[in-house]
Amino acid sequence: MIRTTTIFDVPRIQEIINSHAELGKMLFKSYAQLYEDLRDFGVCERDGQIVGCVALTVIWADLAEVRSLAVDNRFRGQGIGRELVEWAVEEARRLRVPRLMSLTYEQAFFEKLGFSVVAKETLPLKVWSDCVRCPKRDGCDEIAMVRVLPDVADSNQPPAPPTPRGVSIPVLESLDE
Ligand SMILES: CC(C)(COP(=O)(O)OP(=O)(O)OC[C@H]1O[C@@H](n2cnc3c(N)ncnc32)[C@H](O)[C@@H]1OP(=O)(O)O)[C@@H](O)C(=O)NCCC(=O)NCCS
Repeated sequence: MIRTTTIFDVPRIQEIINSHAELGKMLFKSYAQLYEDLRDFGVCERDGQIVGCVALTVIWADLAEVRSLAVDNRFRGQGIGRELVEWAVEEARRLRVPRLMSLTYEQAFFEKLGFSVVAKETLPLKVWSDCVRCPKRDGCDEIAMVRVLPDVADSNQPPAPPTPRGVSIPVLESLDE
């Protein structure tokens, strides 16, 4: 069962995320970042202990990002990752956002959940705001994946500014490789 969070959950969320960050699978998160983004998070509890987390961040009227998806290693392969992503999908539906994206190394997992690989350049510039904190920003090897929710109507608001080519900030240079 997935639930929304309180400030008491932050140390455990950080522990799970950073255990994977140490293996280079995701970005480290500080307490400051987690408190600020806490309202985006859902967590999975088993026997009173948090065993996984996910965040859904709204990027624009037509796009939300699935972030900080992590399952405690001892609980992997039990359907918790799927439950967390489906919670994020339901959040996107509730918010009426018709498209979800993820930047990930777990292509096969996200494909099972209805996501497809897209060219990074098709995502708006705003998506790359976290990349300035990423040690791999000059050689980003994450895969961009998108899932469209056909039952959610597009708001017809103007799309987010696209990712320009040739702009001299590190992450955008890496996109041009
Ligand atoms: C990726 C991750 C969230 C998956 O969580 P999980 O709870 O082990 O996944 P689930 O048990 O819900 O798996 C759902 C389905 O995906 C499959 N799957 C899970 N991990 C997979 C992988 N690495 N490659 C291929 N398929 C995978 C499962 O076999 C299952 O398939 P099924 O429904 O046909 O049986 C987890 O391994 C994790 O925390 N990884 C480290 C952090 C990370 O990489 N996060 C992603 C950042 S975007």
